[in-house]
Amino acid sequence: MTHYLIYRSDARHPFPHLSDFDILRTAWAHNQRVGISGYLVRTMHEFFQILEGPREELDRLYTRISADERHSNVRLLSEGPLARRRFPNWAMGYAEAVEDDPAASLFAKGLPDQDVAQLIKSFEELAAARGAISGRAALLRE
Ligand SMILES: Cc1cc2nc3c(=O)[nH]c(=O)nc-3n(C[C@H](O)[C@H](O)[C@H](O)COP(=O)(O)O)c2cc1C
Repeated sequence: MTHYLIYRSDARHPFPHLSDFDILRTAWAHNQRVGISGYLVRTMHEFFQILEGPREELDRLYTRISADERHSNVRLLSEGPLARRRFPNWAMGYAEAVEDDPAASLFAKGLPDQDVAQLIKSFEELAAARGAISGRAALLRE
């Protein structure tokens, strides 16, 4: 069964920063290979990411991500089984949430405590409003 996990972290470099694109390049290549999809949200000083896929791959990736020096204070917000993938076509979507946009405001405020369904919905709403910069989505659109 598919699992998901959501974490937040403090970004080392304030937005915008080119290292985000290095992260995405790695994520697109690796995630596609191991069946992980998801969405990465960038605020001025934080990352929020939802990852979905096989549980062992998620655990392995989360361990690597947690040790990445491009961010700190990585904190797991939620994890568990997932009935269906929310981002099946995106090896990793990406959007910034720095402006005063209703779909982004929860992230800009630091994603206060909320139930899991609401947490996942926050990612879905932002993705629906913004789309994703994603190698895989770009391929599908061609
Ligand atoms: C905020 C953030 C999100 C990341 N997301 C992913 C991801 O979805 N997939 C991935 O393979 N690497 C991701 N990385 C990069 C990993 O931390 C790591 O650099 C990469 O997996 C390569 O690991 P390695 O150098 O041990 O081979 C992310 C890094 C950061 C800082």
